[in-house]
Amino acid sequence: MSAIFHPIFVAMTDPIDKEKRCFHSGGRILLAFASQTGTAKALATRIYEHNSSMCDLVNLAEIAPETLEQYGRHIFIVSTFGDGEAPTEARPFAQALEQSSINLDQVKFAVLALGNRQYSDFCGFGKHLTQQLLRQGADPRVPTTELHRNDAAVFSHWWQKLSETFGIALEPDISDWEVATVMDTEERNESALDLVFYIQCLEHEQATALRFKPKRKNPEFEPFVAEINPAPSSPFTRIRITTDHTKVDKSGTAKLLLSAQPGDKWHVQVKDSKNGD
Ligand SMILES: Cc1cc2nc3c(=O)[nH]c(=O)nc-3n(C[C@H](O)[C@H](O)[C@H](O)COP(=O)(O)O)c2cc1C
Repeated sequence: MSAIFHPIFVAMTDPIDKEKRCFHSGGRILLAFASQTGTAKALATRIYEHNSSMCDLVNLAEIAPETLEQYGRHIFIVSTFGDGEAPTEARPFAQALEQSSINLDQVKFAVLALGNRQYSDFCGFGKHLTQQLLRQGADPRVPTTELHRNDAAVFSHWWQKLSETFGIALEPDISDWEVATVMDTEERNESALDLVFYIQCLEHEQATALRFKPKRKNPEFEPFVAEINPAPSSPFTRIRITTDHTKVDKSGTAKLLLSAQPGDKWHVQVKDSKNGD
């Protein structure tokens, strides 16, 4: 085993470039809000904080409809104001979307519509936004959900659906995460985008999979599950990170989203064990 880690950069063609229309976001999710008094913005921000590695948070007031074409997955959290209308600063976006002829037929979306049943046009803007997205060809992967007065149960049900459909993380529960230290790393084939490192064996001999996340904050990286096969005789657990955890930049260069060096701290959680943990 070697203690040296070399970042690897490999030039490769981004297959998305071959598509007629480009998604420039590299698979990231557009997490958009429209808010008058801050509720929708706060909810969107909360989701973003747990999922910043995979989402871009935007205010609909600050983008043009064409931005929607740059993402393959959209999540909207929007309130309704006036008489069934968009929040004031998002109205130019709403009008531009109505007049636009963007093509969203590769897009999957979810809308959370905030409102109050005391108004006659309950969640009017959220419903209108959904209609516009459907008109442009987008696919409603999570049914548009109307939220009356921030109903916590409805919100959490919607968030659960998002989690299942888009892989969005729910509130983190790190109470059962342990800290493991990277003990060593392994030389790799320089032509491959992978990383092998070793952590000190945890006391979970029966574990078959562990969930990892770097203790040091890495905004690009979410927890992931690594299959392991611990050898009872070895004091180390060997972890191999592969090409799933790469990012392609604008020049078409792929690079690993993380590194591991001896001494690095990782959060580790037993994901699956014979005891049913
Ligand atoms: C002046 C005003 C007008 C509103 N109009 C509507 C409406 O037409 N339909 C609706 O469902 N909710 C309406 N609401 C309720 C808001 O959409 C709701 O309070 C929402 O949670 C606000 O979210 P925000 O803080 O992100 O703007 C209105 C609220 C106010 C204060």
